[in-house]
Amino acid sequence: MDTFVIEGGRRLSGTLAVNGSKNAALPLMAAALLTRERLVLRGVPLLADIRNMQKLLQVLGCRAERDGDGDLAMQSADGASVYAPYDIVRTMRAGICVLGPLLARFGEARVSMPGGCAIGDRPVDLHLRGLAALGADVSLEGGDILVRAPRTRGVHRLRGARVFLGGPMGSTVLGTANVMSAAALARGETLIECAACEPEIVDLANLLNAMGARVTGAGSPRVLIEGVSELAGATHRVIPDRIEAGTLAAAAAITGGDLVLENCPLDALMAFTDRLHAMGVRVTTLEGADPMRATARFTAGGALRPIEVTTQPHPGFPTDLQAQLMALLTLADGNSVITEKIFPERFLHVAELSRMGAHLFRVGPTVIVSGVRRLVGAPVMASDLRASAGLVLAGLAAEGTTTVNRVYHIDRGYEALEDRLGSLGASIRRVDDRVEEAALLPVVVAAGRAVA
Ligand code: EPZ
Repeated sequence: MDTFVIEGGRRLSGTLAVNGSKNAALPLMAAALLTRERLVLRGVPLLADIRNMQKLLQVLGCRAERDGDGDLAMQSADGASVYAPYDIVRTMRAGICVLGPLLARFGEARVSMPGGCAIGDRPVDLHLRGLAALGADVSLEGGDILVRAPRTRGVHRLRGARVFLGGPMGSTVLGTANVMSAAALARGETLIECAACEPEIVDLANLLNAMGARVTGAGSPRVLIEGVSELAGATHRVIPDRIEAGTLAAAAAITGGDLVLENCPLDALMAFTDRLHAMGVRVTTLEGADPMRATARFTAGGALRPIEVTTQPHPGFPTDLQAQLMALLTLADGNSVITEKIFPERFLHVAELSRMGAHLFRVGPTVIVSGVRRLVGAPVMASDLRASAGLVLAGLAAEGTTTVNRVYHIDRGYEALEDRLGSLGASIRRVDDRVEEAALLPVVVAAGRAVA
């Protein structure tokens, strides 16, 4: 397993272009199952989760390869498999987003129940409620979800309906993606009430419409889908990754740096930039013709002001930037309050940041961050994708050396993070633990002999 070794205290500055969005690309890839024609996605980042989704699609009889230009070309054959096995779904919970497309295209699907993960329980009851509302027969067997469309006049086909997708924490992003994709091929109209409003849902609706679907209202809590009999192939560029953009902006802020981000989805980051502004970080738009692909400058300097923040469904503050903001606030000039409303257990980074000298006090879904003057580098353990990013940010600002273990978590959602931060002046290198252990072995053996 790889480790990042970070020498803190360097100010980041320079220019980077934001990569394509992981959380948009995954449901977009699943949409390839809705048609037998070729679907091409541009700007898909090179990430472990993307490779896992390619593997899952191939198991489902859908070719998924990079072409010469780096675009992702997919084509789903008729009569392919409709079974998404546990060994792939368990490594990437987002595999659940093949459920709706398989059901809509083939009339049935068997998808392993995704387990929980480091950020807490990950139920799928809203996904299943939504598909059942479209007429699907839903059952659970041996850890798998089985869904089958109703048979009318010899054809298995879902029927449009009014679907409510509200849950205890608001709506569900991948649940909305599943129901929207399934409804695209249903007979009649579907109205999704309490749909997720995330930008990734808008991107999926834009792709579905490019394939011949009729989706309106995406980005609002009410999405209308008029079912069609079949969908065609398309070519589509993935929206920029708002969470990668926020993470890079936070890296500049925590080091008192000055960063220009190109292809920056400012329009999808309003809640985040609002909090940066409140902390005293300057955010200026250098070019914003398309506010989803703007050029923005993030400038920090002087003490960061403490703030309050609560994570909410979009357009509220994104839970996927909570750990990164907490790292930033550990060095603010006063006490901040962070409340996590989406995944109340999403605090695995708290103990690790405390090892670096942060003063953090958790009370249920809330953490009081009492700002300190400095963090001190230490060995810390990555646990989930975004918590790991928070630890890297802390390491960039800490005095001395920070080693972040198990960076495979980071590789799931950030492409070559060490190279990208290094290009801005960070001292961060990837160490392959296997190489390090092998190099150390002779020394350890010799030391053992000397002691014996
Ligand atoms: C998506 O996950 C993202 N993943 C997550 O990003 C993100 O944190 C999350 O949305 C919230 O914004 C992808 O897009 C691949 P949800 P998703 O269903 O869709 C509850 C990252 O770091 N819920 O919107 O799985 C659930 O427990 C990842 O990139 C139900 O109760 O999240 C949670 O409290 C982590 N029943 C809330 O809703 C359900 O059936 C939001 O979950 C589904 C969800």
